[in-house]
Amino acid sequence: MNYVKWEKEYNTGDDKIDEQHQRVFVFINKLNLALQTTKDREEIIDILKGLKDYTDYHFKLEEDQMVASNYPKIDAHKAEHQIFIDRLNKLTADMENKSTTINLRLLKFLKVWFSGHILNTDKKFVAFLGKGAD
Ligand SMILES: [Fe+2]
Ligand SMILES: [Fe+2]
Repeated sequence: MNYVKWEKEYNTGDDKIDEQHQRVFVFINKLNLALQTTKDREEIIDILKGLKDYTDYHFKLEEDQMVASNYPKIDAHKAEHQIFIDRLNKLTADMENKSTTINLRLLKFLKVWFSGHILNTDKKFVAFLGKGAD
């Protein structure tokens, strides 16, 4: 069973952004699966790096759109993205130097942060673009 499940409320109204958010969910579910099964450190690090690369790419796309549309809340939105990237970098580094093991608490952070960011922050931006789902 998937750890994070896509719900209708996560649809922002922008298909490309929604598709990318769904791919982030896939990474989080892969991490959960690795945590429940192999617990292999190298495999978990690989998934974390994949998640980081993909979120970098996704955040960049949103931020480029914010610049192009003169979005007034760009700085606050970018600051939220940075928190997630910093956390992922720290987590990956800690895993690499074996000072942590990924656990359910960390997984919960990824899940709660990402879904909260979609609901509270990305949806506002897409609404600003005039494509809002509501
Ligand atoms: Fe997003
Ligand atoms: Fe965002």
